[in-house]
Formats: sequence, C-alpha cells, structure tokens
Amino acid sequence: MSRFGIRKRLKARLLGTQPSERAETTALELTLVLPDGSEHRVEAEPQYTLVMASQSLDTPIHAHCPDGHCGKCHVDVLEGQSTLKPASDAEVALLDEHLGTDRDLSVRLACHARVLESGAKVRVRKVWSLAEAMGVPPCDD
Ligand code: FES
Repeated sequence: MSRFGIRKRLKARLLGTQPSERAETTALELTLVLPDGSEHRVEAEPQYTLVMASQSLDTPIHAHCPDGHCGKCHVDVLEGQSTLKPASDAEVALLDEHLGTDRDLSVRLACHARVLESGAKVRVRKVWSLAEAMGVPPCDD
C-alpha cells in the first residue's frame, strides 16, 4: 500500500467502491491552492500533516520521499501560519539546507507542517498526477 493509501483510494474510486470509513473526529478545515490556481477546502484531523490533509484531492501534494528527509516538498503558507504547528528543528534544518537561512519564512515542508487549527491557506507547488499516484512510470516524451 502507498504511504497514505493513495492507491487504495484511487482504486476504490475507479471501481466505484468506498474505502473503509474512519472513526469520527473533529475535522479542521484549510484551503489548498494547487499549481493550476484552483482552491480546494479540505478537512484534516488535528496533527495531520499538509500532505495527509491533501489526500482527499484527486491530485494530492507530491511527497518526494517516504521519510521526510529530502526537503523538497515546499509549500507557501499564504494565510494562517499560526494555525500550523511551528517548524521543528529538523524541518528548519532541511529548509535552511535547501533554501538558505535567508529564505521566506512562509515556506514550509508539507510532510512536516502539522495542522493545529482551522484557517490555513497554503499554496502547493507540486501535486501527484493520477498516473504517478497509480504507480505508472512517466512517459519518455
Ligand atoms: S517529501 Fe521529502 S521532506 Fe517532505
């Protein structure tokens, strides 16, 4: 199974079945602005990462590595920076390494940034394509 069950949910969607429902929890809301400019309200459970929160989208946030060490899943927090858990030392170190210490402080790593409250608006820089999410290798065009 893929990291966040992407393949399972896509397969269920294609087959017209529903993946198992999780227990009810208090959902938080945030807005994700995708690279094409479209805005999507998504729900997230407290402490979900932005990557996890994006899993209800057809094209979720592109996570480049399975363990949060590549430092490439940059997103821009447009509004509600305080609704996200402050960056950990590990996240800051990765951002410093990849973007420099004089970087824009609104940039976060989507697989590190955790949702604490509703209200964030986040610009996503890269999303999974449907083919990538299904494990189809890219074309060599
Ligand atoms: S996907 Fe690699 S650090 Fe976020």
